[in-house]
Amino acid sequence: MSDLSAFDLSKKRIVVTGANAGIGQGIAVALAGAGAEIIGVGRSSMAETAETIAAMGGRCSDVTCDLSDRDAVRRLIDDVWQTSGPLDGLVNNAGIIRRDDSTDLSEQDWDDVLDVNLTAVFQLSRAFGRRVLQAARRGKIINIASILSFQGGIRVASYTASKHGIAGLTKVMANDWAAKGINVNAIAPGYIETKNTAALRNDPQRSRELLSRIPAGRFGQSAEIGDAAVFLMAPASDYVHGAILPVDGGWLAR
Ligand SMILES: NC(=O)c1ccc[n+]([C@@H]2O[C@H](COP(=O)([O-])OP(=O)(O)OC[C@H]3O[C@@H](n4cnc5c(N)ncnc54)[C@H](OP(=O)(O)O)[C@@H]3O)[C@@H](O)[C@H]2O)c1
Repeated sequence: MSDLSAFDLSKKRIVVTGANAGIGQGIAVALAGAGAEIIGVGRSSMAETAETIAAMGGRCSDVTCDLSDRDAVRRLIDDVWQTSGPLDGLVNNAGIIRRDDSTDLSEQDWDDVLDVNLTAVFQLSRAFGRRVLQAARRGKIINIASILSFQGGIRVASYTASKHGIAGLTKVMANDWAAKGINVNAIAPGYIETKNTAALRNDPQRSRELLSRIPAGRFGQSAEIGDAAVFLMAPASDYVHGAILPVDGGWLAR
């Protein structure tokens, strides 16, 4: 019989970026369902997520931060740690996408995407790692990668570069910290029903093409990414380091 306490997150305090909507909300709700206290970080109101978690009997607070603001991001983990106590986990979920042909993609679209999707992840992870190591505690980081951490995609140069970067950052930080009590892993979602994929899903031809290529025959739900996050945050994954777990309906296997 499996030991369900291996999936228990009670007494764990976990930062989730972009927890107000989409995949981040699914992750925050799933982690709270396993007992964790959530600190949602982002630029929009976390009220919907906080209400959902409160209705489950859980705890969710919020910290406002624009993750494209390097100075604000640099201070964030230290501020949270000092004002509300030590952290056990960090989920780097927030991300943006800009679509254009590689001949036309502007440098602004390059910088904007790299700032939020990669630089902020490095800054937050570095600050979290420093704090956990200084305090001689254990910690877990989950980065939200993508199937475009493995494939090129179409008309999304800055996004694909950022998500390949996330795969590399996950592996190097796992190597640096595995022996010191920090697990760094990533989840690579396939096509999940969120704002991020609305344009693709609303285009009848693209939608048909995508669905016919997904072995599961459907788009994924944010809660299904949340379930994978519970595993990677919980003691059940203590020996998992540097993994990039696809949750993609089989897309990458095809
Ligand atoms: N949906 C998919 O199929 C899919 C597939 C693979 C990977 N992913 C990845 O999953 C993650 C979540 O995406 P999603 O699909 O849930 O998209 P989403 O619904 O658009 O959510 C993106 C989240 O990131 C936040 N965010 C964006 N820019 C920010 C900034 N400058 N400062 C603070 N927060 C910011 C958003 O906040 P606002 O609401 O304020 O904009 C929102 O909470 C992203 O890293 C994405 O690349 C998604």
